[in-house]
Amino acid sequence: MIDYKKLGLVNTREMFKRAINGGYAIPAFNFNNMEQLQAIIKAAATKKSPVILQVSKGARQYANQTLLRYMAEGAVEYAKELGCNHPEIALHLDHGDSFETCKSCIDMGFSSVMIDGSALPYEENVALTKKVVDYAHQYDVTVEGELGVLAGVEDEVSHAESHYTKPEEVIDFATRTGCDSLAISIGTSHGAYKFTPEQCTRDPQTGRLVPPPLAFDVLDAVMEKLPGFPIVLHGSSSVPQEEVDTINKFGGKLPNAVGIPEEQLRKAAKSAVCKINIDSDSRLAMTAAVRRVFAEKPGEFDPRKYLGPARDNMQKLYEHKIVDVLGSENKLANLD
Ligand code: G3H
Ligand code: 13P
Ligand code: ZN
Repeated sequence: MIDYKKLGLVNTREMFKRAINGGYAIPAFNFNNMEQLQAIIKAAATKKSPVILQVSKGARQYANQTLLRYMAEGAVEYAKELGCNHPEIALHLDHGDSFETCKSCIDMGFSSVMIDGSALPYEENVALTKKVVDYAHQYDVTVEGELGVLAGVEDEVSHAESHYTKPEEVIDFATRTGCDSLAISIGTSHGAYKFTPEQCTRDPQTGRLVPPPLAFDVLDAVMEKLPGFPIVLHGSSSVPQEEVDTINKFGGKLPNAVGIPEEQLRKAAKSAVCKINIDSDSRLAMTAAVRRVFAEKPGEFDPRKYLGPARDNMQKLYEHKIVDVLGSENKLANLD
């Protein structure tokens, strides 16, 4: 059993409390490799933002869970080296799919886990989430549950359509499971294709797809049932069109990719939504930068010469999210 506190990591309890009271959200960025992690930590340390490092099941398979854990430990020291003396970094399992996966992460030093029972029948979701909470809380590890199903792909579970969270279920779920935060479905979805062109309208000036608004009425109803309870939004990439354009210009093929407009995320961040999950935007920023180097410098074969620009582009993206979208800049408890 590795104690995450000894690694310099924190759980999400205090950061969420402050985020709700302060009307901002904590960025939860996925990482699979060193460049992504460096970019996240540089952005969070420079902007003095708390941050959640998310590791998915796919990331654990790709990069090795032990290595990822040591990378997160290294990230705390790296943040300090960058001049951030009191970083607040949580290491979080994204979309945990079983008690065993959650336990394995808790045992190896994660400070927070998600148990995603959203595709299960309600009572099974309650039982599984409670089992994880009972184990996690012995070690002061925080737990995110999920109610409602996002459209698109939730890791390996495919859903044809979105099923919004039922506000009438949230009190029972939060009370019986004891979870620390709740991911809800209000119209976001994973990936770079969040809406079909048929679901969108077109901006007459730019010709760009304009997605339908999120279901803020569902969010309002959830907040009314659970005042002050930490709410999480998955699938919250905005799919920056300039990155999509760069990718397409330099040989990529991402037709009609569309995300969640930033003004809607800004609005959500001011509410009880205190954790906003972003992965796809980082993938787009990385891919755009790599494609540009490959197209403009075809003789280049030193990975540092294309992964370096990719890292810089991701850092720019993360800083933009922190400063202009989520509002978590300068929100560390200790800014010294
Ligand atoms: O919610 C899904 C995240 O974007 C992680 O994706 O399972 O491909 O690592 P992944
Ligand atoms: P995006 O695909 O919108 O970045 O969502 C990521 C996410 O929800 C990770 O859990
Ligand atoms: Zn997700």
